[in-house]
Amino acid sequence: MGVPVRRGADEKITALREKLVGAWARTDEIFAIVPNSELGAAPIVWRHPFIFYIGHLPAFSWNQICGAILGWKSFNPGFDDVFCRGIDPDVDTGECHWHPEVPDEWPQLRETLAYRDHVRRALLESVEAVLCSDAAGVMAQNGRVFQMVLEHEWMHQETLLYMLQQLPLARKRRPKTAPRYSFQPAPVPRAVEIPAGSARLGAKFDDVHFGWDNEFNETRVSVPAFEIDTLPVTNGQYFEFVVCGAYDEPRFWRPEDWRWKQFENKSYPVCWFRRGGDWLFRCMFDSFPLKHVASWPVYVSLAEARAYANWAGKRLPTEAEFHRAAYYGPDGRESAYPWGQTAPAAQHGNFDFLSWSPLPVGSRPAGASRWGVSELVGNGWELTETPFAPLPGFSPYIESYPDYSQDFFDGKHFVVKGASWATDRTLLRPSFRNWYQAHYPYLFAKFRCVSQ
Ligand SMILES: [Fe+2]
Repeated sequence: MGVPVRRGADEKITALREKLVGAWARTDEIFAIVPNSELGAAPIVWRHPFIFYIGHLPAFSWNQICGAILGWKSFNPGFDDVFCRGIDPDVDTGECHWHPEVPDEWPQLRETLAYRDHVRRALLESVEAVLCSDAAGVMAQNGRVFQMVLEHEWMHQETLLYMLQQLPLARKRRPKTAPRYSFQPAPVPRAVEIPAGSARLGAKFDDVHFGWDNEFNETRVSVPAFEIDTLPVTNGQYFEFVVCGAYDEPRFWRPEDWRWKQFENKSYPVCWFRRGGDWLFRCMFDSFPLKHVASWPVYVSLAEARAYANWAGKRLPTEAEFHRAAYYGPDGRESAYPWGQTAPAAQHGNFDFLSWSPLPVGSRPAGASRWGVSELVGNGWELTETPFAPLPGFSPYIESYPDYSQDFFDGKHFVVKGASWATDRTLLRPSFRNWYQAHYPYLFAKFRCVSQ
C-alpha cells in the first residue's frame, strides 16, 4: 500500500518543481527586456529599481520556505534582509509601511544573480523537505507555501511589466517573440440589466487550493438591480472626455482626485502622449497614433475612471456588482468563470501572457458572462469603487507574511478584479482580489460604467 502513496508524493514534488522552474523562466524572460545599463532605473518613482526585484523574488521565497518553515541556515542573511520587502508608499503623502533600510547602493548584478541561483537550487530541494515535513502551520500543509511563492512571483511579473511600460522604448530590448497587435473596430457599446440577487465574495478556506488571507472568509451579499456596460471604455470613448476639457473641470472630479490631478499636472492617461499636434499611444515596445488603438480599452487610474463615469452620468461598479455580472446568470447559479465551468483558454480572454498589449474590446466573445457582459476577466483588470477591506472572518497570515493585506486596509486602496494580459491564469479564481490606490495610474486596468 506504501507504493501508490509514495508515487503520489513523487508526482506532487515533480509537479511543484516544474511549476517553479516555469515561473522562473518567465521571470527571466521579463528581466531579459531590461539591459544591464537600466537595472538601476526606477521608471515608477514609487517602486525600487529593477535590480531590487532580481533579488526580491528569491529572497521572499527563501524567507518563506527555507527560513520560516524549514529553519535552514541562511547562506546570505544580508541579502535575505535587504531584498525582503519592497515599497508601496501612499502616493499622496509618501508614507510607507515597514521595509528594510534602502541601501546607498544596491548589490551588484553578479552577486545578486549568484544569490538568486543559489536560492533556486535550494528551493528545488525544499519541495520534498516541506511535503515530507511535519511542520505545523497552515502554510506547511499541502504545499501551500509554494503556491504563495508562485503567486507572489506571478504578481511581480505583472508589476515588472507595468514598470517596463514606463521605460522609454529606446531603453529596453524587444523580446524574441515579436509583439503582434490587433486594431479591428470595437462593437457598438450597449448595456444590460442585471436583476437583484445575491453574490458570493471570497471563499471558504478549504474550498480553494490556495488563497491569500484577504480572500477569506466567504461572505454572501445582496445586490440591488443595476445596469452595466457590456464592454469597457475604449481609448476612443475616453478621447471624447479628454478633448471636451473634462480634465480642467473640477465638477467631474472628487476633491481628493482633483488635488492629485492638479499636483501631477495630468491632462490625459499615462500611456498617451502628444507630439506636435498628434495624439499617440505608447505600449510596451511600440507607439501608435491614438486613433489606431481607439478600440483598445483605456488604462487609467481609479481617479480618472470615476471622473469619466461622473461625466457620463454613471458610476463604477462595486466589487459585489462585478461578481454578479461576472459569475452569475439568468438561472441564478454561480459559475467558476464568466463563460462557465471550462478551464481558461485563449478564446476566453486576453490573459496569461497571451499578448504584450491590450486587444480591441469585444475580441473574445466566447469569454462573455452569461448575461452577455464581455471581458470582465482579461484585457485589463476591472476597477471597482469598493475600498479594499477585510471580508468578515478575515484572519491575517501572521506566521507567513505579517501585514500582507492589513497594511492596505487604509481606505485609500480599492478592489480591482479580473485580469490583464499579464496575469497568470491561476489568479483567475473568483475569490482573488487585487488592490491599488486611486491615484496610481500605472497598472493595466480598464473600467466600465454602471447605472441604477
Ligand atoms: Fe513582493
